[in-house]
Amino acid sequence: MTNPEPTKSKKIRVLSGMRPTSKLHLGNLMGALENWKKYEKEEAFYMIADWHALTTEYDSHTPIRENVIEVAIDFLAGGLDPEQSTIFIQSRVKEHTEMALLLSMITPLSWLERNPTYKDQIQELKEKDLHTHGFLGYPVLQAADILLYKANVVPVGEDQLPHLELTREIARRFNHLYGALFPEPDASLTTVAKLPGTDGRKMSKSYGNAIYLSDSPEAVDNKVMQMVTDPARRKREDKGHPEVCPVYFYHKIFNASQQETVARECREALRGCVDCKREMAAGLKKFHAPIYERRQKFAAKKSEVLGILEVGNRKATEIAAKTMEQAREAVGI
Ligand code: TRP
Ligand code: SF4
Repeated sequence: MTNPEPTKSKKIRVLSGMRPTSKLHLGNLMGALENWKKYEKEEAFYMIADWHALTTEYDSHTPIRENVIEVAIDFLAGGLDPEQSTIFIQSRVKEHTEMALLLSMITPLSWLERNPTYKDQIQELKEKDLHTHGFLGYPVLQAADILLYKANVVPVGEDQLPHLELTREIARRFNHLYGALFPEPDASLTTVAKLPGTDGRKMSKSYGNAIYLSDSPEAVDNKVMQMVTDPARRKREDKGHPEVCPVYFYHKIFNASQQETVARECREALRGCVDCKREMAAGLKKFHAPIYERRQKFAAKKSEVLGILEVGNRKATEIAAKTMEQAREAVGI
């Protein structure tokens, strides 16, 4: 830390966010957080997107605020270092809503209506009425999140690519209308394959198939023992197909050194699924237990977590306010 200035200016600006609709599960951790951690040496901003949560959870009985703190604890337990990255709450930095409104002026409705994520989500979340102004404008708010920090890189999952493309289009349109202000951000895609849930489908709160960072080791054991396996292995002597078994998927990640043995013994019916799950659970818990313990520690010190968020909110506001001022100037408002 002798002369931080020259290196500082070379750092890329990174921003990403997660919606606090539930506590984080292993799928979130492996899919997003592991990718975020790679940018800790850069100038990284990680946001808890509570406004975005409200677009789909506006009629929920649980206040989003409760999940915000849980997600912050998960971020810290999962290994985000608040000394390196800025962790903040979207709704506490007022410029996000202001920038979203400004960008909404220049975003054609047709761009939003043709957004594939919009159509998918309306289909997928049929039980919710998502025909709202706020939900249609979801990508405009996301563009505001990214552009306020003039982020160069946005680490996200593949499902977010349409939103990134829209952000780039909105940035281009702004720059064209009012003069160059925003860089066009690039996505940084997670490289690891998506961790399936305990039933083999995509891991998701709404499917009830998730393993959470906050699950105790006993809860992890129970969930693993209830995992779906290759349906062809009804009896112990039936030969299996590890490639279709979610337990095997977990072996590849959490018990990698044994994966070939596991696959062979499954194919030749030399191992039973119960033993196979026990062995996998041991590997999984080696990874999960330290995270769980860290989580317990942070959960017992909520005021410290709130303090971290407060510092983050302040740092984020500093940057966001500057950009907002420039944008107002450019637009002439
Ligand atoms: N829409 C993102 C998701 O559902 C969350 C998000 C909100 C986000 N704002 C963002 C991601 C800005 C990246 C950048 O995962
Ligand atoms: Fe899955 Fe293991 Fe059973 Fe094979 S032996 S089906 S890999 S749980």
